[in-house]
Amino acid sequence: MTYDIKKVAIIGTGIMGSGIAQLFAQAHFSTVLYDAQQGSAQLAKDKLSQTFEKLCVKNKISETQCQTAIQHLSVANALAELSDCDLIIEAIVENLTVKQQLFQELESLVSPQTILASNTSSLSITSIAAKCAQPERVAGLHFFNPVPLMKVAEVIGGLKTAPNIVQQLKLLTEKLGHRAVIAKDTPGFIINHAGRAYGTEALKILNENVSTIEDIDRILRDGAGFKMGPFELLDLTGLDVSHPVMESIYHQYYEEPRYKPNPLTRQMLEAGTLGRKTQQGFYTYPAQEKESIDSTVSVHISANFPTIWIGADFLKDRQILEKYLTDLNIAINAAEIPNPKSLCILAFYGEDTTHACLRYATDPAKSVAIDMLYDFTQHRTLMPSLLTSSESTEAAHAIFSADQTSLTIIQESVGFVAQRVLAMIINLGCDIAQQQIASVDDINDAVRLGLGYPLGPIAWGDHLGAEKILLILQRISTITFDPRYRPSPWLQRRVALNLPLTFSPA
Ligand code: NAI
Repeated sequence: MTYDIKKVAIIGTGIMGSGIAQLFAQAHFSTVLYDAQQGSAQLAKDKLSQTFEKLCVKNKISETQCQTAIQHLSVANALAELSDCDLIIEAIVENLTVKQQLFQELESLVSPQTILASNTSSLSITSIAAKCAQPERVAGLHFFNPVPLMKVAEVIGGLKTAPNIVQQLKLLTEKLGHRAVIAKDTPGFIINHAGRAYGTEALKILNENVSTIEDIDRILRDGAGFKMGPFELLDLTGLDVSHPVMESIYHQYYEEPRYKPNPLTRQMLEAGTLGRKTQQGFYTYPAQEKESIDSTVSVHISANFPTIWIGADFLKDRQILEKYLTDLNIAINAAEIPNPKSLCILAFYGEDTTHACLRYATDPAKSVAIDMLYDFTQHRTLMPSLLTSSESTEAAHAIFSADQTSLTIIQESVGFVAQRVLAMIINLGCDIAQQQIASVDDINDAVRLGLGYPLGPIAWGDHLGAEKILLILQRISTITFDPRYRPSPWLQRRVALNLPLTFSPA
């Protein structure tokens, strides 16, 4: 069947429906608005017209573009008025029965060629289509809020969706100027699925008392390169939105430990501390002036440690550390076994300092670990053991902040903070690829555009070193016995065969 999409209807003109309508009207599709709530569609049309006028005043669009976009908007007062539409997108209440009923009713009104799409974020497309006479014409077209700015949409085919419909929706989405990624009908599709690792692992780290909310955010933002720390992000989204998504994906995947939510966010949700919208979440709003701690002033490189001994899993990390120390005129003890007077700096992956001290046979009192996974020049994380003396910690602190690079000291954590979070994100991306939920390119682009990460998860794995990511997960799995860290077969095979993580057989 061929489809020529010219006239589009948007049902449900709330936040999402209005945003989707804006895209279509701007791309010169005849766009009909319908909402069950009387007056809502007209209100949405009026607001959109104002939006176009504002964009014109700001020179983002021309006067002609503004007028053309407005002319392409119209309002329907009854579903029957949508009978000649080529595509109908619903953005109504997130309720399976209501969506099923709407699609059944639409089928009795529209032509057999009309494509029916749902903007659902959490319901199965297959389930929505299950009550339809022609489930092959039902697909997911999932935009993100705010629609005009979030330049990505997931196109989802249910079990019975015709592949041609998925392709048509992909082409159409690209005409709107958005990147279309194709996802299998699975819980969370790509973006809400891939987004589970960041907040979930950060909450687990907080729960283990590894560090403070501020410091976990700082490590991941300033060190690992996220735009926002996980707790800043949870506060922005609001726990009323994000906690139910965490629970829903966890249950929809039959209690898969990778997605296990944290009791803390349920409790905060019940207490009404949702984030920015309630002025209280992980932080208090409006933000209070943060005390700036100048870590370089009060600590001095200790004369009690004439040399530094380095234990490193990877030669490159050793070289970076040696160069840094040499530039500071600090003597390095290159002996295989540390001199009893040396301060031992351990650069390892997927362990805590205690386990690393045993492996390197160093004195825990004189051992301090450093996370070398992320850019050493941006930020540093140090991790003493339970027995590390304050003198050793202070010396390491002074050394690694001597060039004014910001630094955070954390309590023991199997795999530091950034290693754990990044390895979980990359491993989840690999699992999504392994399950063929989407292609590698689509996973990477969906996550970059939809979640705002600097790189897609699979590309990020290659950038940091897949071998390191696998080592982190293997060691954490061995030490913690927690199945959430088990490495994806996708990751294991590619590391074993020395292939990039982006490799897919032709
Ligand atoms: P909203 O509450 O802002 O808007 C929903 C609109 O649908 C309302 O105007 C309501 O009057 C109308 N409506 C409800 N039932 C209807 C029916 N049976 N027939 C016609 N109109 C009906 O909701 P929002 O946030 O725009 O979400 C809409 C859909 O988009 C949901 O499926 C949601 O899961 C999905 N979504 C929401 C995102 C978000 O960030 N808010 C992101 C991506 C998807």
